[in-house]
Amino acid sequence: MKKIILAASFTAIALTSCTPKASTAAAPSLAVSTAEQIAQGKTIFENSCGRCHKLPDPTAHTSVQWVGIMNSMAPKAKLTDEQHQWVYDYVVSVKK
Ligand code: HEC
Repeated sequence: MKKIILAASFTAIALTSCTPKASTAAAPSLAVSTAEQIAQGKTIFENSCGRCHKLPDPTAHTSVQWVGIMNSMAPKAKLTDEQHQWVYDYVVSVKK
């Protein structure tokens, strides 16, 4: 009778854990508008987007549709790139 010795291998389960990237903590980047910028977007929207037609209903279009709409309307309203961004962020922030 042979003894079977099982070599218990202690596999150090050091799976490099995918620690979530030190997420959204910092980074006041260009990507996200602040509440003030969104508030400015609302003002710009109300002042600039009701001149040629009645003020559109922000909830009438999806955020994807708004990208295209803003691309065609921002130049009509003579918005700067920043204003374009703020107005966009405002309209998509208005969700039913
Ligand atoms: C200089 C005039 C003018 C200004 C300013 C203007 N628009 Fe328009 N807008 C139009 C015209 C003309 C149309 C219809 C023809 C077209 O779609 O291009 C239109 C159409 C639209 C539509 C309907 C599009 C669709 O697909 O149903 C939306 C929504 C809209 N505008 C939003 C805006 C917003 C938001 C602003 C402010 C950033 C704005 N518009 C500023 C002239 C203007």
